[in-house]
Amino acid sequence: MSFDLSRFHLGCPYYPEHWPEARWAEDARWMRGLGLTVTRMAEFAWALLEPSEDRFDFAWLDRAVDVFAAEGFQILLGTPTAAPPMWLARRYPDILPVDDLGRRRNVGGRRHYCPNSPTYRTLSRRIARAMGMRYASHPAVVGWQIDNEFGGSGSARCYCEHCVAAFRTWLIERYRSLDALNLAWGTVFWAQHYDDWSQIGAPILTNNAANPAQVLDYARFMSDSFVRFQRLQIEALREVVPADHKVTTNFMGLFTPLDSFALARDLDWASWDSYPTGNVYRWGSQTRNPGDPVPAYAFDVGDPLITGLAHDLTRGLKRAPFWVMEQQAGHINWESVNTLIRPGTIRLWTWHALAHGANGIVYFRERAALPAQEQYHSGLLKHDGTPDLGFYEVAALAPERALMEAIAAQPVRASIALRYSYDDLWALQIAPHRKDFIYQRLIFVWYAALRRLGVDVDLVPPGADLAGYRVVIAPTAHLMDVDEAEALDAFARAGGAVIVGVRSGAKQTDNAFTDQPLPGLLRGLIGARVLHWGALPDGERFSLASPLVTLGDGGAGFWVEALEPSPDVTVLATYRDGPWAGLAALTEQTHEHGRALYVGWYPSQAQVETILRRVLPMQGVPLDPELPAGLVLCRRGPYTILLNFTDRALTASVAGEPVQVAGRDVVIRRPPYKESE
Ligand code: GAL
Ligand code: ZN
Repeated sequence: MSFDLSRFHLGCPYYPEHWPEARWAEDARWMRGLGLTVTRMAEFAWALLEPSEDRFDFAWLDRAVDVFAAEGFQILLGTPTAAPPMWLARRYPDILPVDDLGRRRNVGGRRHYCPNSPTYRTLSRRIARAMGMRYASHPAVVGWQIDNEFGGSGSARCYCEHCVAAFRTWLIERYRSLDALNLAWGTVFWAQHYDDWSQIGAPILTNNAANPAQVLDYARFMSDSFVRFQRLQIEALREVVPADHKVTTNFMGLFTPLDSFALARDLDWASWDSYPTGNVYRWGSQTRNPGDPVPAYAFDVGDPLITGLAHDLTRGLKRAPFWVMEQQAGHINWESVNTLIRPGTIRLWTWHALAHGANGIVYFRERAALPAQEQYHSGLLKHDGTPDLGFYEVAALAPERALMEAIAAQPVRASIALRYSYDDLWALQIAPHRKDFIYQRLIFVWYAALRRLGVDVDLVPPGADLAGYRVVIAPTAHLMDVDEAEALDAFARAGGAVIVGVRSGAKQTDNAFTDQPLPGLLRGLIGARVLHWGALPDGERFSLASPLVTLGDGGAGFWVEALEPSPDVTVLATYRDGPWAGLAALTEQTHEHGRALYVGWYPSQAQVETILRRVLPMQGVPLDPELPAGLVLCRRGPYTILLNFTDRALTASVAGEPVQVAGRDVVIRRPPYKESE
C-alpha cells in the first residue's frame, strides 16, 4: 500500500492511550465507515512508549496499529518529543527551558524542553530511532510526524545555559572572528565590545533595549536550533525506516517565532493545524489593521483570509500540495471565546483547504476527551460516544469524494509571488518604529487585496526561485542582500513586475542600516530615491494626487515616504499637502521588458487593489471582478472553486457569467478546456 501524497486523503488522529483497549476496534470501524483512511498516533505517548529510561514498551502501540491496519488505515506515527515524560524531566531537570525572565519552566503542561539540551537531544534521538526500528516494516505505517507544533505553547525561545553555549558556537560559525561580530552588531555603541566569545550571553533582562543585531541573531539561532533538533530525529528515522516513508511536521500557519521555510527544507511534505475560529482571536490583531472591522461571520466560520493565508503559506513551504494535519471539526477549547460551530462549516473548511492546495485533511479529534486538559474540545464524536456535528458533515462528504480526488490531482498555479520573510518580520518586531507596524499586517493588506480580486498567490521566502511568476510583491523587503537585489533586477528585466513597499532595502542582513540612499540595494530597480520617511500619528493623513482613479482615496497615513524619481520614471501618485507636497509617493520604472514599482506609504486594501488593477493586466494576469466580502475564489488546474463563508447567498461573476453561491456553500466550475490536462 503505497502512500501517495499526490492523491487525496481524509483522516483523523487516534489516541489509543485515551480509550480502553476494548474500544479501539469499534473506533477504527466507524472512522473507516466515515471514509477516513489515515490516522496519526502516539505524538504525546512517550511515557507509555518508554516507561523508564531505555526500557521500551511498544506492545500496546503494536496492537493499536494492528487494529487500524486491519481496517485498512494508513498510519502516521508522531515522534513523542513534544511531551517529555515525568521521569525524564525529574532526572534531568536541565532539559526544562528557561524563559526571558530567567525562570526555569515547570513540567505539567507540554513542550517543556530545550532543543539544545544535550540530554534531551540524545534521548529524543533514541526514542525516534527505537520507534523507527519497531515500525519500519509494518505495512500500514507510511510516515512520520516529527514532534508536534514546534514552538507552540510558548516554547520557541529558551535562554538556558545550553542555549547560551550553543548560541556562541552558532555565532562562531556565522562570524568566524570576534572582530566581525563586533562590527556587525555595532558593539561600539553603549560599550558592548566583546573580547572573548564566552562574554556573549542571551539578550534578556537588559536595562533598556538589548542590541538589535543580537536579538535578531538569537531569533535566527533559536529557529535553527529547532531545525537541528528536527533534523536529528529525521536522520535517526531515515537510518532505519524504508525510503518510501514520508516525513512531515505540523506547522501552525501564521505562527511567527520560528522560520517555517527553514524547518520545511528537511521534510518530505508540509502540514499545518487549522483552527479557524480560534485563529480569528489569536491572529486577528496580527492581520487586520486597526479600524478594519473583523467581519461578523468570521467568528462563526473563521476569517477565510486568515485561514487562506495560512494555507497558502504552508503550500509555499514546499511549493507543493500540503496537508491539514489537524482540522478543527467542532468547537475548540483554548481561546477567550470558543464559538459554537454552525452546520456546513466543517464541509466548507474541507473544501477551502483543498481549494488552496491541501491533499490531506485530518480532523481533530476522534472523540471529545473525558479527562485532563482539553475536555471542552470537540471531536467527531461527543463525550458520550455519539456522533457530533463534525461526524455528520464528514459523512456527508461521501458523494463529493470523487470530485475532491479529481481536484486534488490538479496543481495550484499562481502567477503572483508574495515575498514573506521571517528575518524582516523579526527585525520589524525589534524596531517597529511606530506602534502597530506589524509585518504580517502589511502582508495581509496585499494578500486580502489579491484574494478580493480572485487572484491565487504563492508565499515565497527571500531568495526563492522566481521563474514562472509574473509579479513579485514585497510589501516590504526590509533586509536586503546583493544576491536578492540582483535576482529582482533580473526578474524585472526579463518581463516581470516587482512591487515593493515602504522600508524596503533599508537594512543589511545583519540588521544594520545601509549606508546608501534608500531603498539601498534596490535603488537601480526602483529608479527613485527615498528623500524622507517617517511615521504619522493615528488619524493624520497626507492627501494624494494620482492619475489612477481612486488611488488617492483616503490619502496616505501611518507610514509615509517621499520619493525623488529619475527623469525616465513615471510618477503614479504625488503628495498634495503636508511637508512633502509635490513630491512623489508612488513610482513605476519600466525595465527592458518588465517594471518595478515603489509604494511610498502604508496603503489601504482599496489602494492596493487599485495598484493591482493597473499592474496585473499589464503582466497578463486576468482579474475577476471584485468578490463580495466572505466569498472566496480559488483555482486548482481547470477548476474554479467558490466558497461562501457568510450565511446568505452571494454572487460572483466567473468568466463573465454570474454564479450564485448559497450561504456556507461551495460551487465548483470546470470550464471546458482545449489543451489536454
Ligand atoms: C493543537 C495541538 C493538539 C491539540 C489541539 C487542540 O494545537 O497540536 O495536540 O492540543 O491543538 O486544538
Ligand atoms: Zn535552552
